[in-house]
Amino acid sequence: MDVRISIIGTGLVGSSTAFALLSAGTSSELVLVDIDRQKAEGDAMDLNHGVSFVSPVQVRAGDFSDCKGSRIVVYAAGANQKPGETRLDLASRNVAILKETIPKLQKACPDAIFLIVANPVDILTYAALKESGLPSHQIIGSGTVLDSSRFRFLLSQHFGVDARNVHAYIVGEHGDTEVPLWSLANIGGADLHHIDFFGKAPLDRQAIFDDVKNAAYQIIERKGATFYGIALAVRRICETILRDEHSVLTVSSRIDGLYGIKDVCLSLPCLVTAAGRETILDLPLSFEEERALRDSASSLRTVLNDLGY
Ligand code: LAC
Repeated sequence: MDVRISIIGTGLVGSSTAFALLSAGTSSELVLVDIDRQKAEGDAMDLNHGVSFVSPVQVRAGDFSDCKGSRIVVYAAGANQKPGETRLDLASRNVAILKETIPKLQKACPDAIFLIVANPVDILTYAALKESGLPSHQIIGSGTVLDSSRFRFLLSQHFGVDARNVHAYIVGEHGDTEVPLWSLANIGGADLHHIDFFGKAPLDRQAIFDDVKNAAYQIIERKGATFYGIALAVRRICETILRDEHSVLTVSSRIDGLYGIKDVCLSLPCLVTAAGRETILDLPLSFEEERALRDSASSLRTVLNDLGY
């Protein structure tokens, strides 16, 4: 069966995502769309030159109408953070771009799952919902899927355990107000208070969380942008959708009442299926975690209000 994924915006994030999807054989077709058509064409040529080394895949540059029939649209268009900028600094610029592009995409592939990756991802996910009027399960943001992976990686390094056995979530905004769910973090089922048996030094929770939260700043300072980690996170989300895996991922989506939060998009652990975001897990958070999550939601709501949403 033909499975088409379209990638909108072939900057570093979009093109790295194309590479990640192509190397994993995630889809049989990739359509690359960029305001700079030549850039998208160059990427398509470059990727096509590797197709004899991977599962059969057709890669081409196109425009919005070529996205027709896409199962997933990966939206990575817009400016990215410069050193010293926060993700929220990008809001008005990237919302303006999204307002122009979403109607064209919706026309081309109204049934696609829209996976918003550009920043500020929670704000753009909300804007995409409002501009399109599509149901909330169909529009998701990559949210804190990457942050949760950073968290799991750092814990796995500390304890010397495979990151796949570390279960830990970052929730809320993908950005400065995000929240680590320490109370639910566990390794192989053991909560973090009960894992002295790994014989490691005590965990410096604040240092670990600071490293998670500031990871993008640290990478941007060193190499100007982040793209490989997010590309792999997007691949994981796409595979979950295409294979209807019902995986629990901290994607960003519209929250309507859970934990007293309403009318914003932010990340919580969700079941991700072929329909996009299905159930949002209602977890027993600690009092402090719930409060921090609500603070994160209100800071996003303030930005949305400023943008007229
Ligand atoms: C990061 C970008 C994707 O956190 O926001 O690397």
